[in-house]
Amino acid sequence: MTNFYRKYLGFCQNDIIMREKFIFLNFHFLGDSMKIAVIGAGTIGSAIAKALAEDGHEVVATRRQIEKGLWLEKFGVRLSSDNKAASKWADVVFLAIKPNKVREILEEIAEFIEKKLVISIAAGIPLAELKRFANARFVRAMPNIAVIVKESFTAYATELEGKDLATVEGLLGSFGKCLRVEEEHMNAITGLSGSGPAYVTVFLEGLIYGGLRAGLPRDVAKLASLQTLLGTAKLLMETEKHPAELREWVITPGGTTIDGIFELEEGKIRTALMKAVDAATKKSRLLSKKL
Ligand SMILES: NC(=O)c1ccc[n+]([C@@H]2O[C@H](COP(=O)([O-])OP(=O)(O)OC[C@H]3O[C@@H](n4cnc5c(N)ncnc54)[C@H](OP(=O)(O)O)[C@@H]3O)[C@@H](O)[C@H]2O)c1
Repeated sequence: MTNFYRKYLGFCQNDIIMREKFIFLNFHFLGDSMKIAVIGAGTIGSAIAKALAEDGHEVVATRRQIEKGLWLEKFGVRLSSDNKAASKWADVVFLAIKPNKVREILEEIAEFIEKKLVISIAAGIPLAELKRFANARFVRAMPNIAVIVKESFTAYATELEGKDLATVEGLLGSFGKCLRVEEEHMNAITGLSGSGPAYVTVFLEGLIYGGLRAGLPRDVAKLASLQTLLGTAKLLMETEKHPAELREWVITPGGTTIDGIFELEEGKIRTALMKAVDAATKKSRLLSKKL
């Protein structure tokens, strides 16, 4: 385990390391199985429900159009359109509906989640707003779509401590890596890692098109681009190097890479990415005002 993980990821990372061992041994989960309701089995709610069920929890996922979520049943997730019954049954409730639905849903299930652990992943909705509508033990979390492959970066903010924190980290650890942050950082997290997979796909598409322009077959261009991204991220994680330091390992004076970097600088790629994160962060801040 690297120092970075030791320092910042604490229990959650321990959980991941344990899970890796379990995957190696063909086990999934060794903690207490919990009863979990995922309200809003859409794009990310489904991924969350599946990840939790695969880790040995009992999961009920809700949405109005149940037929669209039935594929989850083969992973052991039960589908329902009854938010109240699911919330009453559950030990822990995930809120995975759109931000503009949070108020309506909380008002609907308030009496059934009293004092329960409720983890909201709705972008932009602060803990203070959640608490206005129900008396629950709230956590505000922001995963990303890589929950599907259990490689999400999930940041969370909460005032809870002790056993609750261990429970939260155990659950969010099912999605990938997680980290507790101050709530003031949650909008920026939303703009960076919540939306991040979308930015990365734009970047990847550019690389793939570059490969095609240079005459590579489609599948070669795609694999070369994806593995380069994966390998670079892994290298930076494991060596704890700053990206600038790694770049110097690749750039040879008068070589090929510096010509590529020169073009990137002209395209102001860093400015574009910084502006993207900034715009999404600002939008996240605005969402709470629309509750
Ligand atoms: N997508 C991401 O990558 C991502 C990442 C991090 C966080 N988030 C957050 O996750 C939340 C969901 O995003 P999403 O992209 O997954 O949206 P989504 O695909 O639209 O999912 C929302 C789901 O909520 C269900 N729903 C709506 N009204 C409901 C009700 N009254 N009771 C039960 N379910 C209801 C909808 O299904 P029915 O129409 O069938 O009811 C829909 O499938 C948002 O707050 C977003 O900020 C998303």
